[in-house]
This record gives sequence, structure tokens and C-alpha cells, in this order.
Amino acid sequence: MQELRNTYIAAVAAVQDEAALEDLRVQALGKKGEISLKMRELGQMSPEERQVAGPALNALKDELTSAIAAKKAALADAALDARLRAEWLDVSLPSRPMRQGSLHPVSQVTEEVQTIFADLGFGVAEGPRIETDWYNFDALNIPGHHPARAEMDTFYMQRAEGDDRPPFVLRTHTSPVQIRALEAHGAPIRIICPGGVYRADYDQTHTPMFHQVEGLAIDRDISMAQLKWVLEEFFSVFFGTKVKTRFRASHFPFTEPSAEVDIQCSWEGGTVKVGEGDDWLEVLGSGMVHPKVLAAGGIDPNEWQGFAFGMGIDRIAMLKYGIPDLRAFFDSDLRWLRHYGFASLDVPTIRGGLSR
Ligand code: DAH
Repeated sequence: MQELRNTYIAAVAAVQDEAALEDLRVQALGKKGEISLKMRELGQMSPEERQVAGPALNALKDELTSAIAAKKAALADAALDARLRAEWLDVSLPSRPMRQGSLHPVSQVTEEVQTIFADLGFGVAEGPRIETDWYNFDALNIPGHHPARAEMDTFYMQRAEGDDRPPFVLRTHTSPVQIRALEAHGAPIRIICPGGVYRADYDQTHTPMFHQVEGLAIDRDISMAQLKWVLEEFFSVFFGTKVKTRFRASHFPFTEPSAEVDIQCSWEGGTVKVGEGDDWLEVLGSGMVHPKVLAAGGIDPNEWQGFAFGMGIDRIAMLKYGIPDLRAFFDSDLRWLRHYGFASLDVPTIRGGLSR
């Protein structure tokens, strides 16, 4: 029995994996295992012999059972250790470099414009880029024969032969959003409407798609004086320096009176600097909203009045960030985008705050 014990205890100690251990268990303690057979032989022994052999066999069985269980646990631990060692990775290693995208100057400047006008109490409204010619022209007091309609180099959507519905156009300006906003919200109202517009035009300073922001403020007693204050306030915050404006009498079908607005600038050394010098740069059109436009928007021109303006976003982006060529805005040249783009987490560069 001692020999049997030593053999199996040594074998358990020597075993290297769980399958071999299981084989060993079956060989010793399985139904036909060596120790099980010995247990069966107890029946043929004399009571005296059995009294000695019985407890010894039971003790051996117990000892071997726990030795096998302990070995099994040790093998499992070792396997887990090996796996943990194999699956180890160094989380302190530097990551592979990843290129960050950037915000296009148009997106950046649109956000800046929205932020400044939000501080002045203006909400943001949007309209469709594919417009009916009613919203784009007629509602803005530009009837079919009006020269402005021809001047705008309009893209017309294709119509099937025999389709005589009024034509859809790619909006030539953001002014139609004035009408949609008045229809939706009525007066009083204070909004800006940024977005893409389209004209069939292409040269160094014109692209077939560009961006405008429209402004509209309607109340009972709004005047041109407030228009001038709002615009000077806007430009001063936008350019981070006090900017004077100059209003020149002009004509737009949707405003009466109308004015083109210049901002103060200098041209020293061939580069334009806004907010200094004695030169002027035209940046927008504006005026008091025409009574017919108010009526088209569904509000009573005898009760309400206000101003509107329209300005090129790409244009003021070029001025603020010293970008020389408009066409590059839409070339999708990655080198250009990386150079002129803005980090997405940058706070818009609006210095100085508002002077109120
Ligand atoms: N819609 C005009 C354009 O695209 C710009 C404009 C001028 C808008 C005067 C206005 C305005 O709201 O009052 O050229």
C-alpha cells in the first residue's frame, strides 16, 4: 500500500497538464482504477485484515483525491498566469499619429457671425437652397420683368417637357429666408440666415456657390439708426477693433430706402487692414424692408417696419483671415484646408467683446 501511495503521489507531482492528470485519476480512482479494485477486495478479507486495510485504503483514497484536486488547481493557476503573460500589453506606449480634421474658414466664420448676433439678440433661421422663384424673386418685390432677375445669373432646375409649374431655382441669395421666417414666426422678429447661395458666375472673385448671411429685424419702431449701430457693433467685434461704416445710397427692390455699406480700411503695403486708414471697402447691401416684402411675408406694413441686410460670408472670412483667393475655398485642397482650417475645439476668435 505504501508503494502504491508513493507511485501515485509521485505521478501526480510529475503530471504537466490537466488531461494527463485526469488519466491518472481514472487509472487510480476510476471505476476500474487500481485503488477502487483494492477497495473491492476488502470484501474477501477476514475481519481482522479488513480492520487494518480498510482505513488505510480510505486514507490513501482521500490523500490521492486531495492531491489530484490540489494539482488541478495549480495547473489552472499556471495556465491563467501563462495567458496573462501572453496577453500583456503596454498601455503607456505612445499611440500612432492620427491626422486631425479642421474646420473650414466658412464654418468658422459662420459660427463667429452667429455668436456675435446671438449676443445682439438675433436668432438663426434657415431655408432651402432649392427655392421656388416666388420666394427667391416675386415675394422680394422682384417681378418677372425686373432687371435684377436677369442680373442674378440664376440656375433654374430642369423641368420635364410640358411641366408648367412655376420653376424652382437654386436660391441666388439668402433673402428668401426673410419671407419664410416672417410666414413662420410673424413679427416682431430678429434673425440672421446664413447659408449657401448660387449664381452662374466664375472668376477670381466669383464662384458658382458661395455663402451669405441675411439679417432681418422687424418691430414697431425700428429705424436705419439701429441698422447702423448693429452693423458697426458687429464689425467691431468680428474684426476685434473699432470699425467705422459708411452708408451709400443704393437700390434694391426689397428695401426702401436702400444702402450699400462700406467698412473703413487701409491698403498699406498692398494688404488690406480693416478698422484703420481712410479707404472704404464695400461689404454688404441693406435697407428698410419694403412694405411689399412685409406684406408678402404676411405681416401688416402699416403696423411693422424694420431693416434687412445681406453680406458675403466668404468675403468677410477672406478679409479677417487674410485669405487671398476665393476659389481656393471650394477646391478641397488638403494643404489649403490644413493651412487655413481651424481646430474644431478652438473658441471663435472674438476679441474685445461687446461695447454695451
Ligand atoms: N440679396 C442681396 C444680394 O444678394 C443682398 C441684400 C441687399 C440683402 C439688401 C438685403 C438687403 O437684405 O436689404 O445681393
